[in-house]
Amino acid sequence: MKQEIMTIISQQQLAPRIFQMTLTGDLVNEMEKPGQFIHIKVPRADMLLRRPISINQIDKQAKTCTIIYRTDGDGTKVFSELVSGDTLDVMGPLGNGFDVDCIAAGQKAYVIGGGIGIPPMYELSKQLKQKGIEVFHFLGYASKEVAYFQDEFIDLGETRFATDDGSFGVEGNVGNLLLEAIKKEEPDAVYACGANGMLKMVAQVFSDNPNVFLSLEQRMACGMGACYACVCHVPDDETGTKSVKVCDEGPIFRASEVVL
Ligand code: FES
Repeated sequence: MKQEIMTIISQQQLAPRIFQMTLTGDLVNEMEKPGQFIHIKVPRADMLLRRPISINQIDKQAKTCTIIYRTDGDGTKVFSELVSGDTLDVMGPLGNGFDVDCIAAGQKAYVIGGGIGIPPMYELSKQLKQKGIEVFHFLGYASKEVAYFQDEFIDLGETRFATDDGSFGVEGNVGNLLLEAIKKEEPDAVYACGANGMLKMVAQVFSDNPNVFLSLEQRMACGMGACYACVCHVPDDETGTKSVKVCDEGPIFRASEVVL
């Protein structure tokens, strides 16, 4: 993990409140695993906490990384107002990243994303595909209006969509898509990032599969394992005192390792 002043080389809006920003800097040399995140200082003196944002794409040759974020609060709104040439104080890469070594060429992976949990799944799918793994995507959005990155996933493999209001893809959550899909082919590994409800459902649908990896969207503060703002409980903890720190030990856990 390093800290660096990175330079913004592009920023564009993908959907209402959803922005894509590309940054350049030496920090990209440290980025290897999909699912890791960077911790970005808001360039305003009154906002002390950094914002954790997952890495959407890594391009080592161009020395760039891309993030996709939603303007959920004042800090991310400040990010959305920045333009090419502006700089950001970035720490990273942080987090453990997805395990792409548990699966081999020719095997099948399900890549599942919901809402603002979708961005890190793109770099994951790219790396899985480079390894010769067949990727199947299941992406859920609130509505067609806030859907983004559909073509990019379609380019990598079979992609199915669900929206809460049925305006794009099937109506409902991605659970319906998964139940339909597993009638045809069982995946060798399952990767998911999204809200807790979606992750719970993924864990249930694939309860017999040992290779189910969930990226948790926990609120964070320090982002480095020091403040315990991001703890998640673990199974078989009779005392209720055991936990894992999502920022430090995660954000990705096997489904069997955490209580959602
Ligand atoms: Fe501080 Fe995880 S955010 S320990």
